[in-house]
Amino acid sequence: MPDPELGPWSVIIGGSEGIGGGFARALADRGINLVLVARRAERLQRMAAELTDSHPAIKVRTPAIDMEQPDAVDQIIAETAALEVGSFIYNAGAETVFRDFVDDGWMRIQGRLQRNFVAQTHLLHHFGRAMCARGRGGIILMGSIAGCLGSPGFSLYGANKAFVHYLSEGLWYELAQRGVHLLCPVIGPTDTPSMRETFGDIENPTDPNYIARGALERIADGPLWIVDDIAEAVANFNAMEPAERARFGARMMENFAITGARVAG
Ligand SMILES: NC(=O)c1ccc[n+]([C@@H]2O[C@H](COP(=O)([O-])OP(=O)(O)OC[C@H]3O[C@@H](n4cnc5c(N)ncnc54)[C@H](OP(=O)(O)O)[C@@H]3O)[C@@H](O)[C@H]2O)c1
Repeated sequence: MPDPELGPWSVIIGGSEGIGGGFARALADRGINLVLVARRAERLQRMAAELTDSHPAIKVRTPAIDMEQPDAVDQIIAETAALEVGSFIYNAGAETVFRDFVDDGWMRIQGRLQRNFVAQTHLLHHFGRAMCARGRGGIILMGSIAGCLGSPGFSLYGANKAFVHYLSEGLWYELAQRGVHLLCPVIGPTDTPSMRETFGDIENPTDPNYIARGALERIADGPLWIVDDIAEAVANFNAMEPAERARFGARMMENFAITGARVAG
């Protein structure tokens, strides 16, 4: 029996691997049909094959779409037009290049702005409206420890996550009045292919399935789920004055990059 609150369909942007793959598996366990979006078709198909093997009753669609392209949102709206989407997860959002902002190229920055701000906000509006009209549904937007302080080398990424945190707080309240849940997991280093690409092997990364399953279990407990292993650090950031916080952020990000196998870019 599909989960009546989060189904019959769920859309996961970035649902082919990592935390997004964890969301797909956890929602399949609840009998929910899936629209999984990512760029690489072969990884999407691999995930779809795994899910339909283990859950023959569910349907899985796998449009290969690059969220950095301006027509991505229109493609997703068209793909899902005939579906009742009961849950929406915007998972894609990691930064794989550790670099000073002014050393980056504008085209790459523009792509990140499109994926992380414009497309995310547009789809949130699109699916959020339909859920509010039905008076039920669930939304998950991904936060990060990098959004809790200035993150030199990842400044734009950190600023996007701060945007996501505060957007989640405000919208959580608005949507709750209309019967829709919103949760933003605020997470630290988690063992995903993107994380490994950027930082290589890091010590004690969090299990992506713990994040995905934990978020779904807590979806009614928004707005933010600050995951246990970073909770103390986040509380300390709040007590720092801004320049101290930025210096701390620089050391924290450099440490990740130095302990990793390589610095991307
Ligand atoms: N992993 C961590 O340590 C960590 C820490 C804090 C926060 N987070 C947040 O958690 C979320 C998931 O992170 P993650 O590490 O799993 O990596 P991610 O790269 O954000 O997500 C991976 C998924 O997104 C897809 N994707 C990436 N760019 C895309 C694009 N332009 N268009 C469409 N799909 C795209 C990937 O498939 P394709 O590559 O085939 O497109 C894959 O399915 C992100 O929002 C990230 O900021 C992660």
